[in-house]
Amino acid sequence: MSTPTHIGIIMDGNGRWAEALGHNRLFGHVRGARVAKNIIEGCAARGIKFLTLFAFSTENWLRPSEEVSLLMRLLFLRLNRERSNLIRNNIKFRCIGNLERLPLEVRNTVLKTVRETDHCTGMTLTFALSYGGRQEITGAVRDIAQLVKSGRLDPDEITTEMVAGHMESAFLPDPDLIIRTSGESRLSNFFLWSAAYSELLIVEKMWPAFTLTDLDAAIQEYDGRERRFGRTSAQLPASSSEPTSEL
Ligand code: IPE
Ligand code: IPE
Ligand code: MG
Repeated sequence: MSTPTHIGIIMDGNGRWAEALGHNRLFGHVRGARVAKNIIEGCAARGIKFLTLFAFSTENWLRPSEEVSLLMRLLFLRLNRERSNLIRNNIKFRCIGNLERLPLEVRNTVLKTVRETDHCTGMTLTFALSYGGRQEITGAVRDIAQLVKSGRLDPDEITTEMVAGHMESAFLPDPDLIIRTSGESRLSNFFLWSAAYSELLIVEKMWPAFTLTDLDAAIQEYDGRERRFGRTSAQLPASSSEPTSEL
Protein backbone atom coordinates (compact mmCIF):
# COMPACT_ATOMS: atom_id res chain seq x y z
CA MET A 1 0.00 0.00 0.00
CA SER A 2 1.27 3.47 -0.81
CA THR A 3 0.73 5.87 2.08
CA PRO A 4 1.26 9.61 1.76
CA THR A 5 4.45 10.89 3.36
CA HIS A 6 3.01 14.38 3.73
CA ILE A 7 -0.70 15.12 4.18
CA GLY A 8 -2.01 18.69 4.10
CA ILE A 9 -5.49 19.44 5.38
CA ILE A 10 -7.59 22.52 4.67
CA MET A 11 -9.84 22.30 7.72
CA ASP A 12 -12.90 24.03 6.34
CA GLY A 13 -16.57 24.25 7.33
CA ASN A 14 -16.49 25.03 11.05
CA GLY A 15 -18.90 27.94 10.73
CA ARG A 16 -21.43 26.19 8.50
CA TRP A 17 -21.35 23.11 10.70
CA ALA A 18 -22.21 25.16 13.78
CA GLU A 19 -24.88 27.26 12.07
CA ALA A 20 -26.61 24.16 10.72
CA LEU A 21 -26.99 23.03 14.33
CA GLY A 22 -28.33 26.40 15.45
CA HIS A 23 -25.12 27.55 17.15
CA ASN A 24 -22.90 30.48 16.28
CA ARG A 25 -19.76 30.08 14.16
CA LEU A 26 -17.46 30.25 17.16
CA PHE A 27 -18.85 27.00 18.52
CA GLY A 28 -17.74 25.37 15.25
CA HIS A 29 -14.17 26.51 15.81
CA VAL A 30 -14.13 25.06 19.32
CA ARG A 31 -15.31 21.69 18.00
CA GLY A 32 -12.97 21.95 15.02
CA ALA A 33 -10.00 22.30 17.37
CA ARG A 34 -11.04 19.12 19.13
CA VAL A 35 -11.20 17.28 15.81
CA ALA A 36 -7.75 18.62 14.91
CA LYS A 37 -6.31 17.00 18.04
CA ASN A 38 -7.92 13.67 17.14
CA ILE A 39 -6.66 13.76 13.57
CA ILE A 40 -3.15 14.83 14.60
CA GLU A 41 -2.88 11.87 16.97
CA GLY A 42 -4.49 9.60 14.37
CA CYS A 43 -1.96 10.58 11.73
CA ALA A 44 0.93 10.04 14.15
CA ALA A 45 -0.45 6.60 15.09
CA ARG A 46 -0.71 5.72 11.39
CA GLY A 47 2.95 6.52 10.78
CA ILE A 48 2.34 9.65 8.68
CA LYS A 49 5.66 11.52 8.67
CA PHE A 50 4.41 15.04 7.91
CA LEU A 51 1.02 16.57 8.61
CA THR A 52 0.29 20.20 7.78
CA LEU A 53 -2.91 21.81 9.00
CA PHE A 54 -4.16 25.01 7.41
CA ALA A 55 -5.34 26.73 10.57
CA PHE A 56 -5.56 30.40 9.58
CA SER A 57 -4.95 32.05 6.22
CA THR A 58 -3.56 35.48 5.42
CA GLU A 59 -7.05 36.36 4.21
CA ASN A 60 -8.69 35.13 7.43
CA TRP A 61 -7.41 38.34 9.09
CA LEU A 62 -10.26 40.04 7.19
CA ARG A 63 -12.90 38.25 9.29
CA PRO A 64 -14.86 40.04 12.03
CA SER A 65 -12.53 40.86 14.91
CA GLU A 66 -14.61 38.82 17.37
CA GLU A 67 -14.03 35.69 15.28
CA VAL A 68 -10.32 36.40 14.79
CA SER A 69 -9.92 36.94 18.55
CA LEU A 70 -11.67 33.68 19.35
CA LEU A 71 -9.47 31.79 16.89
CA MET A 72 -6.33 33.30 18.44
CA ARG A 73 -7.53 32.54 21.96
CA LEU A 74 -8.33 28.97 20.98
CA LEU A 75 -4.91 28.51 19.49
CA PHE A 76 -3.31 29.89 22.63
CA LEU A 77 -5.32 27.62 24.95
CA ARG A 78 -5.01 24.46 22.85
CA LEU A 79 -1.27 24.77 22.28
CA ASN A 80 -0.64 25.35 25.98
CA ARG A 81 -2.84 22.41 26.87
CA GLU A 82 -1.47 20.04 24.22
CA ARG A 83 2.24 20.79 24.39
CA SER A 84 2.99 17.94 26.78
CA ASN A 85 0.89 15.54 24.70
CA LEU A 86 2.83 16.47 21.58
CA ILE A 87 6.07 15.72 23.40
CA ARG A 88 4.67 12.43 24.74
CA ASN A 89 3.66 11.45 21.20
CA ASN A 90 7.11 12.46 19.90
CA ILE A 91 5.53 15.02 17.55
CA LYS A 92 7.68 17.89 16.31
CA PHE A 93 5.66 21.10 16.01
CA ARG A 94 6.48 23.69 13.35
CA CYS A 95 4.77 26.75 11.91
CA ILE A 96 4.72 28.47 8.54
CA GLY A 97 3.22 31.89 7.90
CA ASN A 98 3.59 35.44 9.10
CA LEU A 99 3.80 35.03 12.87
CA GLU A 100 4.56 38.74 13.26
CA ARG A 101 0.86 39.44 12.87
CA LEU A 102 -0.15 37.18 15.78
CA PRO A 103 -0.88 38.72 19.18
CA LEU A 104 2.30 38.55 21.25
CA GLU A 105 1.07 35.95 23.75
CA VAL A 106 -0.03 33.67 20.91
CA ARG A 107 3.27 34.09 19.08
CA ASN A 108 5.18 33.28 22.26
CA THR A 109 3.09 30.17 22.82
CA VAL A 110 3.70 29.04 19.24
CA LEU A 111 7.46 29.62 19.56
CA LYS A 112 7.59 27.85 22.92
CA THR A 113 5.84 24.83 21.42
CA VAL A 114 8.25 24.79 18.48
CA ARG A 115 11.20 25.00 20.88
CA GLU A 116 10.01 22.37 23.32
CA THR A 117 9.18 19.81 20.63
CA ASP A 118 12.34 20.43 18.64
CA HIS A 119 13.97 17.22 19.90
CA CYS A 120 11.00 15.06 18.85
CA THR A 121 11.74 12.62 16.06
CA GLY A 122 8.28 11.31 15.14
CA MET A 123 5.74 13.07 12.95
CA THR A 124 6.35 16.69 11.99
CA LEU A 125 3.15 18.65 12.60
CA THR A 126 3.12 22.00 10.85
CA PHE A 127 0.50 24.66 11.41
CA ALA A 128 -0.01 27.03 8.50
CA LEU A 129 -0.88 30.10 10.53
CA SER A 130 -1.38 33.53 9.09
CA TYR A 131 -0.17 31.69 5.99
CA GLY A 132 -0.65 32.37 2.30
CA GLY A 133 0.95 30.51 -0.59
CA ARG A 134 1.38 33.71 -2.62
CA GLN A 135 3.03 35.44 0.33
CA GLU A 136 5.38 32.47 0.74
CA ILE A 137 6.39 32.60 -2.93
CA THR A 138 6.82 36.37 -2.70
CA GLY A 139 9.20 35.88 0.25
CA ALA A 140 11.31 33.45 -1.78
CA VAL A 141 11.39 35.85 -4.74
CA ARG A 142 12.49 38.67 -2.44
CA ASP A 143 15.33 36.57 -0.97
CA ILE A 144 16.57 35.53 -4.39
CA ALA A 145 16.35 39.08 -5.69
CA GLN A 146 18.57 40.16 -2.79
CA LEU A 147 21.18 37.59 -3.82
CA VAL A 148 21.10 38.90 -7.39
CA LYS A 149 21.28 42.51 -6.22
CA SER A 150 24.32 41.79 -4.06
CA GLY A 151 26.08 40.17 -7.03
CA ARG A 152 26.15 36.70 -5.44
CA LEU A 153 23.78 35.16 -7.98
CA ASP A 154 23.41 35.30 -11.73
CA PRO A 155 19.71 35.22 -12.75
CA ASP A 156 20.55 32.50 -15.28
CA GLU A 157 21.49 30.24 -12.38
CA ILE A 158 18.02 30.38 -10.83
CA THR A 159 16.46 26.91 -10.89
CA THR A 160 13.16 25.54 -9.63
CA GLU A 161 15.09 23.69 -6.90
CA MET A 162 16.63 26.97 -5.78
CA VAL A 163 13.24 28.69 -5.64
CA ALA A 164 11.87 25.72 -3.65
CA GLY A 165 14.83 26.00 -1.29
CA HIS A 166 13.96 29.60 -0.47
CA MET A 167 10.38 28.80 0.52
CA GLU A 168 9.58 29.01 4.20
CA SER A 169 8.23 25.45 3.94
CA ALA A 170 11.48 24.14 2.40
CA PHE A 171 11.89 21.80 5.39
CA LEU A 172 8.80 19.91 4.21
CA PRO A 173 8.55 17.50 1.30
CA ASP A 174 5.84 18.42 -1.22
CA PRO A 175 2.41 17.37 0.07
CA ASP A 176 1.38 14.05 -1.46
CA LEU A 177 -2.25 14.44 -0.48
CA ILE A 178 -4.26 17.57 0.24
CA ILE A 179 -7.64 17.02 1.85
CA ARG A 180 -10.22 19.79 1.98
CA THR A 181 -13.38 19.35 3.98
CA SER A 182 -16.74 21.12 3.45
CA GLY A 183 -17.03 20.27 -0.23
CA GLU A 184 -15.30 23.42 -1.52
CA SER A 185 -13.02 22.71 -4.50
CA ARG A 186 -10.23 25.24 -4.13
CA LEU A 187 -6.87 25.73 -2.47
CA SER A 188 -7.66 29.15 -0.95
CA ASN A 189 -3.97 30.13 -1.06
CA PHE A 190 -2.63 26.93 0.57
CA PHE A 191 0.73 25.56 -0.67
CA LEU A 192 0.57 27.10 -4.16
CA TRP A 193 4.12 26.13 -5.06
CA SER A 194 4.50 22.69 -3.55
CA ALA A 195 0.97 21.50 -4.40
CA ALA A 196 1.95 21.28 -8.09
CA TYR A 197 1.54 17.49 -8.08
CA SER A 198 -0.42 16.90 -4.88
CA GLU A 199 -3.39 14.59 -5.06
CA LEU A 200 -6.44 16.63 -4.10
CA LEU A 201 -9.34 15.14 -2.19
CA ILE A 202 -12.49 17.12 -1.53
CA VAL A 203 -14.55 15.67 1.30
CA GLU A 204 -18.18 16.78 1.64
CA LYS A 205 -18.23 16.63 5.45
CA MET A 206 -17.61 19.77 7.47
CA TRP A 207 -14.37 19.74 9.49
CA PRO A 208 -15.98 19.28 12.95
CA ALA A 209 -17.63 16.11 11.61
CA PHE A 210 -14.42 14.65 10.15
CA THR A 211 -13.42 11.36 11.83
CA LEU A 212 -10.58 8.86 11.86
CA THR A 213 -12.72 6.70 9.57
CA ASP A 214 -12.75 9.58 7.08
CA LEU A 215 -8.98 9.88 7.45
CA ASP A 216 -8.57 6.17 6.69
CA ALA A 217 -10.88 6.50 3.68
CA ALA A 218 -8.75 9.42 2.42
CA ILE A 219 -5.54 7.42 2.78
CA GLN A 220 -7.23 4.50 1.00
CA GLU A 221 -8.36 6.78 -1.81
CA TYR A 222 -4.80 8.10 -2.15
CA ASP A 223 -3.51 4.55 -2.44
CA GLY A 224 -5.77 4.03 -5.44
CA ARG A 225 -4.56 7.13 -7.30
CA GLU A 226 -2.03 6.78 -10.10
CA ARG A 227 0.57 9.53 -9.82
CA ARG A 228 2.05 10.04 -13.26
CA PHE A 229 3.89 13.36 -12.86
CA GLY A 230 3.36 14.06 -16.54
CA ARG A 231 4.41 10.66 -17.82
CA THR A 232 2.14 8.07 -19.39
CA SER A 233 0.63 5.20 -17.49
CA ALA A 234 2.76 2.71 -19.42
CA GLN A 235 5.93 4.36 -18.13
CA LEU A 236 5.00 3.55 -14.54
CA PRO A 237 6.03 2.32 -12.04
CA ALA A 238 9.62 1.87 -13.22
CA SER A 239 10.19 5.61 -12.78
CA SER A 240 7.27 7.03 -10.90
CA SER A 241 9.06 9.71 -8.95
CA GLU A 242 8.54 13.33 -9.74
CA PRO A 243 10.94 14.75 -12.34
CA THR A 244 13.25 17.22 -10.67
CA SER A 245 15.61 18.29 -13.44
CA GLU A 246 15.12 21.55 -15.29
CA LEU A 247 13.00 21.01 -18.36
C1 IPE B 1 -12.49 26.79 8.75
O1 IPE B 1 -13.85 26.92 8.89
C2 IPE B 1 -11.70 27.47 9.85
C3 IPE B 1 -10.98 28.67 9.43
C4 IPE B 1 -10.93 29.17 8.22
C5 IPE B 1 -10.23 29.38 10.46
P1 IPE B 1 -14.60 28.25 8.44
O2 IPE B 1 -14.57 29.23 9.55
O3 IPE B 1 -14.07 28.74 7.14
O4 IPE B 1 -16.10 27.73 8.25
P2 IPE B 1 -17.02 27.97 7.01
O5 IPE B 1 -16.26 27.56 5.80
O6 IPE B 1 -17.36 29.43 7.00
O7 IPE B 1 -18.21 27.10 7.25
C1 IPE C 1 -9.36 28.24 4.02
O1 IPE C 1 -10.69 28.34 4.39
C2 IPE C 1 -8.44 28.55 5.17
C3 IPE C 1 -8.48 27.63 6.29
C4 IPE C 1 -9.14 26.51 6.36
C5 IPE C 1 -7.66 28.01 7.40
P1 IPE C 1 -11.56 29.67 4.10
O2 IPE C 1 -12.91 29.39 4.60
O3 IPE C 1 -10.86 30.83 4.62
O4 IPE C 1 -11.53 29.73 2.51
P2 IPE C 1 -12.54 30.43 1.48
O5 IPE C 1 -12.66 31.86 1.89
O6 IPE C 1 -13.84 29.70 1.57
O7 IPE C 1 -11.88 30.24 0.15
MG1 MG D 1 -14.47 28.37 5.21
